[in-house]
Amino acid sequence: MKIKFTNLYKLLPEKNKIFNKINYLIKNNQFVGGEEVKKFELEFSLFTGSKFCVSVANGTDALFLAIKSLQLKRGSEVIIPVNTWISTAEAAVDAGLKVIFCDVNLDDYSIDLKDLKKKITNKTKLIIPVHLYGNPTNILEIKKIVNKRSIKIIEDCAQAHGSLIKNKHVGTFGDIGTYSFFPGKNLGCFGDGGAIITNNKNYYEFILRARNHGALKKYDHKFSGQNSRLDTIQASILRIKLKNYKKVLIKRNKLAKIYYENLSNLKNIALYKLNKKYKSCYHQFVIRVNNRNKLQRFLSNKKISTMIHYPYMLNELSFFNYKKKLPNAKNLGKKILSLPISEEHTPKEIYFICKQINIFYKKN
Ligand SMILES: Cc1ncc(COP(=O)(O)O)c(C=O)c1O
Repeated sequence: MKIKFTNLYKLLPEKNKIFNKINYLIKNNQFVGGEEVKKFELEFSLFTGSKFCVSVANGTDALFLAIKSLQLKRGSEVIIPVNTWISTAEAAVDAGLKVIFCDVNLDDYSIDLKDLKKKITNKTKLIIPVHLYGNPTNILEIKKIVNKRSIKIIEDCAQAHGSLIKNKHVGTFGDIGTYSFFPGKNLGCFGDGGAIITNNKNYYEFILRARNHGALKKYDHKFSGQNSRLDTIQASILRIKLKNYKKVLIKRNKLAKIYYENLSNLKNIALYKLNKKYKSCYHQFVIRVNNRNKLQRFLSNKKISTMIHYPYMLNELSFFNYKKKLPNAKNLGKKILSLPISEEHTPKEIYFICKQINIFYKKN
């Protein structure tokens, strides 16, 4: 049995509806802005339960514009978990902040609270927790730690569409939540896309202008912003996919359950230990093992594709020049392995993967 990590074409729901819509938009010269974009923003804010949503060109810009909207002093410190995609830190650097990396906990790979407490100083003005792999991060504890200090929180939800804490969407706990609709995400478009959600009118109004050269309409520039808009075609695709998204969540949760049931018995593998009140969207199913490369080769020989998210921790990238020790994150990039999980995969395929991993550990 050959099992791909993912096949984005196969994942498309209602293909004809999507193709007809694209045709219609092209024929009617609708490429930037318009009703599709406005409707998507409304539907995404209803989906997440936030007051406001602004769509932007990608998840990195969503982070950058969200940070800019806070109007923090240059050089303010921002705490970021070290196991994340580069954008989380990159956006902060580009917005003029000083990045302080925080260690991650090994249960769900979110911010390590003990290290967070140590890293907060009176220069800390922002924390960007990441709901990595779709696992809700411990945002309630983070908020308790922040308490009454004037520290803002932007939740990076790029991988966590529909992830919940006590039935409330991630991205609605902090000041702003940011999303990516990169094609490989659970909710992905046909190119780049992103969005920010917030309940704060000032941040919303700033980002609404900042994504469009500081203007709400043509020639109405109030400050210098940038060109970071979600294309009309992408918005129309996302609207169709969002309508089908509940099914995606159910499917991914079902497949994750099969992994848990069939891999929990293996003492060589660490699986996520998620808080019972959290609901993951299972963007990735990541296991932690000591002989990762050997297992990956074994699975590849069985025609099972796997990936690594991520092979390095951000403090290992030399240009961050980060010297402090982060014990949990040390060598983490050499131990983690992402197993296939998506609505395209069948339970039969996931059982097959589990069976092969069990066979591997009988021999190793
Ligand atoms: C955690 C995280 N943050 C931010 C981003 C950036 O999103 P985009 O690729 O849409 O710019 C990604 C995308 O992979 C991500 O995984």
